[in-house]
Formats: sequence, C-alpha cells, structure tokens
Amino acid sequence: MYKITHLSNEEAPMSISHSAFSLFQEGTSSLSITKLDSVINTIKHYIPTLPSCTIGDLHVSKPIVQGGMGVGISLSGLASSVANQGGIGVIAANGIGLLEKDYYKDGQGANIRAFRSEIQKARSLSDGVLGVNIMVALADYLPLLDVAIEEKVDIIFLGAGLPIKNIPITKIRANNIKISPIVSSARAMKMVCSMWYKLYNDLPDCFVLEGPLAGGHLGFSEEQIEDSAFSLENLTIEAVAELASIHEQYNKKIALIVGGGVYSGADIHRFLSLGADGVQMGTRFVATEECDASRAFKEAYLKAKKEDIGLIQSPVGLLGRAIRNKFISDAEEGKRPSFVCGWKCLSSCKAQDAHYCISIALNNARKGFLNIGFVFAGTNAYRIKRIVSVAELMNQLEVGYTRAKASRITAILTTVDRLKGTYLEVQQHVGELALRYEVSLKQLVHGDRALKKQYLAATAKLEKIRLKLVETITAGGGLVTA
Ligand SMILES: Cc1cc2nc3c(=O)[nH]c(=O)nc-3n(C[C@H](O)[C@H](O)[C@H](O)COP(=O)(O)O)c2cc1C
Repeated sequence: MYKITHLSNEEAPMSISHSAFSLFQEGTSSLSITKLDSVINTIKHYIPTLPSCTIGDLHVSKPIVQGGMGVGISLSGLASSVANQGGIGVIAANGIGLLEKDYYKDGQGANIRAFRSEIQKARSLSDGVLGVNIMVALADYLPLLDVAIEEKVDIIFLGAGLPIKNIPITKIRANNIKISPIVSSARAMKMVCSMWYKLYNDLPDCFVLEGPLAGGHLGFSEEQIEDSAFSLENLTIEAVAELASIHEQYNKKIALIVGGGVYSGADIHRFLSLGADGVQMGTRFVATEECDASRAFKEAYLKAKKEDIGLIQSPVGLLGRAIRNKFISDAEEGKRPSFVCGWKCLSSCKAQDAHYCISIALNNARKGFLNIGFVFAGTNAYRIKRIVSVAELMNQLEVGYTRAKASRITAILTTVDRLKGTYLEVQQHVGELALRYEVSLKQLVHGDRALKKQYLAATAKLEKIRLKLVETITAGGGLVTA
C-alpha cells in the first residue's frame, strides 16, 4: 500500500538563501519531486485487475453477484456457472415449486423439495460461492430458510421486505452462513441493523442495495423512480456513509453490493470507485446460455426495444419492471379470464384484483409461453444483442472493468503531469522572487514591498497547485491500492 501523505513538507525545493527560504516556508509546504516521481512510476506500472470481494470471512474471487431471479430463472444451471466463474451464483426460491408436478396440490411441499434439489444440484456442479434468494413475504419463507441452512449454502439473500423478525441467527452462525438483506436505502440498512442488534445482538454480513433501474420487483414509488436523487450512484454514496457509521458504532464491517442497471465492466468500476464492495446483476445473466429460462424468454430480451421495457403494478403490491406485452395490458384493462389461486404463496398478494397470478404468469414465460405471461427485465435489457456463455459474460465484464480503470489511471497521470509541470514553473518563479526580495532587503530597510506582494501571491499559487497535486496523486494511489 502506498503512503501518499509523505509527499508534503519533506524537502526544501531548491537552494535559496536562508532568509528567503524562511519566508518561502511561511506560506508554502514543499513537495518532494523525487517521491512524487516514484509514486507516479508505481502507478504507471500498475496493471488493473478486477478485485475480489470479502463478506465477513467469505472470499469471493470476483465482486459480481448474480441476482436471484425467481420462478425458475436462476436455478442450479445459472448459479453453478456463475459460481464456477468466481462470482456468487444465486438460486431464487420463490415459485421454485412450479418445477414440480404437484405444485397445485401441495405448493409448500413442492417448493421445499425443488429448492433443496436445486441447491444440491448446484453444489454437485460447483465448489464456488453459492447463495440463495428468499422473499421475506413468502408464506413459506421460514421453511425455505431452514432448507438453505440445512444445505449449508454460503450466503442467504433476503428480499422483498425487511427481514427483521424470526431470523434463526444461531443456526445461521453455527453453519457459518453469511446473511444479506436486500434493501433500497441507507435508512433501511440503519433500521435493520438497529433492530437486529436489539433482537439478536448480531448484524447482517452484507447488504444488497437495489436501485430503481433493476428488473423484477422494485422498492420504489413511480415518483422516486423518476427522481435523480434516487439514482443508484446517490444511493450508493449514502449507503457507504451509513455503513461507515455502522462500522464505527458496532465495530462490524458490513459488505455493500449494489445493483439495478449495472450493465458493463465500466459500470462495475464506477460503483466500486464509489465504495461498493461488489455489484449484483440480473438482466445480463438472463441472456446467457446457462440461464435456466427457455430460449424464448432470453430472446424476448434480444427483441425488446427501449420503449418496451416499463413498469407494472404487480399483484404482490410492488411496482415491477418488465417487458410490457399484451398480457400485461389485458390484465390492466381487466380483460384476463378468471383463474384459481393454487395456494396463497404470498400473504399480501392481490392476484384477484390484478386478474392474474404472477407466479403462473412468470412460470409460463419461463417455459416460453409469452402470450400467457411476461418477462421481468431491467432497464438495460434492450442493449443486449447476443446470448453468450457465463464465462464470456464474466470475461467481458472483467475486460471492461480493467479498461475503465486503466483509462481513469491514465487521466489521473495526465493531470498529475500537467500539475507537476506548472508546479515546477511556479516554484522556480517563487525562488527567483525570493532571491530578488533578498537583494532588495540589503538596499531598503523593509525590502521591496511590491516584490514581497508578488512573492506572497506566487507562494499562495504554489501551495494551491501542491494541494491539487497531492489530492490528484492520492486519488491515483487510491485506484492502485483499491
Ligand atoms: C427476470 C428477473 C427476475 C427477478 N426475480 C427476482 C427475485 O425473485 N427476487 C429478487 O430479490 N430479485 C429478483 N430480481 C432482481 C435481480 O435479483 C437483480 O437484483 C436485478 O436484476 C438487478 O438489476 P439488473 O436487472 O438491472 O441487473 C429479478 C430480476 C429479473 C431480471
């Protein structure tokens, strides 16, 4: 790790006479050009790589979480492939029982069976980091949580509601499983932490912060989605500050994963630079060979135009983002035929008002029957032009990240170079003024006042450049050490 702070106040910049030098030091700290050059040199030789991510004692080679995608979109196929590529592969629990024949007879039994079987299958396919995503609002949330614990997944993500009550924290800790609520704000993080501390004397290991551009259900109102104050960038800055204060208060470092609209390696670089430990991505992973949905589901992404991706009012009481189609507009207009709810899988569900069951609609889409269902998708889905393997996607993201970081480093070094040139010029000017002023002191009692004024102005300018230089090189050093 480089210490940039040592650049200040170290060496006299040049040999100017003692009296002038004392004046020189009044306003301006000196800068060691030799040390500056050595830091520049180290930064120049740095080769950017995608960093790893640490969640408690869980080490993840790549800071990429494949977001859990319910009703059969992220199962063992996708999750194990992502885990094999160094990210966190996530199996989503909700609606997973629809894979089983007896879902309509025994919804909960089917969910539990399918969930356990997919976790075991993923484990048999990968030694990588495996997570699950469980919706807090599900009627069988606790039994599903038990399955995840019994199967000893590496990390459990809890979304669609704040996980506060009935967290089996003792069992989770006994099995060394990490736990991560999914939230939409720094405020929610603070609330979860204070409640967990009171109830369990424990804290989550990680938070996923999901912004308003995500696919699937959203934790924002329509007004918030339109409001730039709720951009993922702003939410990330607030979350980083909140987690720093939580760290100070409870002495626990909680990892931050951010998602919703993260599309490219450059995006990953941007959010990691803001202080996130990793990103969660859903949409990009849908368009992979290994995604567990049908080809038709994936191709819906390739066919989608920007204007096709929009909001829906989901029966579960939240807004969602999807590729809008006739099924959605028919449901909104009350034109869908009546249907029978298999079992009340979500206590808050208003399926009858919405004129459809979302699990059935998403399951139909998963199987490729898009006329009797619809596809959840993030705002960026229309940008995807090709279905690729998970390995290729991860490679694209890594290359994009390293390019973005390299170009940021180049920009910083160019600025440092320019500032250094100006610094040296002004420094020389200050030295000359100091010498001339010293000569004037021998001729006049108080020396040449105009010269002194010029000298003071030049030293102030020099100090300003020095500060800018130290700030810029510190940012460069930060990139290299991050
Ligand atoms: C098809 C689809 C299904 C999703 N299903 C779920 C889900 O069941 N539970 C959940 O917490 N998030 C779900 N999400 C959200 C993702 O986990 C992830 O946070 C989100 O996709 C990130 O935004 P992005 O799509 O812009 O990458 C879903 C997203 C998509 C695209």
